[in-house]
Amino acid sequence: MQALGIDIGGTGIKGAPVDLATGKLLAERKKIATPHPATPEAVTEVVREVAQSFGWTGAVGATFPGVVANGTIRSAANVDRSWIGTDAAAQFGKALGTDVVVLNDADAAGVAEMTFGAGVGVKGSVLMLTFGTGVGSALFADGVLVPNTEFGHIEIRGKDAEKRASENAKVTHDWGWKDWTERVSEYLQRVEALLSPGLIIVGGGISKEADKWVPLLTGVQAKIVPATLHNDAGIVGGAMAAAGHAKAE
Ligand code: BGC
Repeated sequence: MQALGIDIGGTGIKGAPVDLATGKLLAERKKIATPHPATPEAVTEVVREVAQSFGWTGAVGATFPGVVANGTIRSAANVDRSWIGTDAAAQFGKALGTDVVVLNDADAAGVAEMTFGAGVGVKGSVLMLTFGTGVGSALFADGVLVPNTEFGHIEIRGKDAEKRASENAKVTHDWGWKDWTERVSEYLQRVEALLSPGLIIVGGGISKEADKWVPLLTGVQAKIVPATLHNDAGIVGGAMAAAGHAKAE
């Protein structure tokens, strides 16, 4: 079984057909820069282009970098605020002429990691965190997702945590690995104090360079492992949601 996964990020919109038995991409992914401003109309047009580039007419699952309840967007920290209240599932469905399931990007990435990646078979409480334009979170209890957690927005030193711990913050402030990882450690310590997960999976594009920073993390009891699907996790999780393998709300 196959489905098309489309991952909508603050920086890029990327998609590929996915083999749902293996979690492998069936074609090279198509990536288009996120339009600015990232309005519903502009993003929908890019989502349509991505689907069209594969001549896709089957099931589609799209991820969104905000809270998604029943296909409707409830928050938009890193995309245009006019998304809030938009029924993204209906809007994408109309543009693509097929059913589209929409879910939070970190939730999608987490489901993919729990099924095909670093979290396979792990029981208890598992927290997946994605470090990218923002910081996304996906919490699992015995493999079951608690959807729409927003642990990237807890406050640290008077600031939204993702403004200090995201990959974007590292780039914006020109922090080296050591300076950035100190902030990530402080963030993980706070998250651990609130949730005590047994395992923390660290993902997002920066997980490709995990060897440069994961060994520098300090003060956390939980086991910390890098994601194994890296930047493809959102695409894979989106496709899984389209096929009903991941709950979208
Ligand atoms: C959003 C989350 C999202 C994360 C990663 C945060 O700013 O609030 O919903 O999962 O960024 O994109």
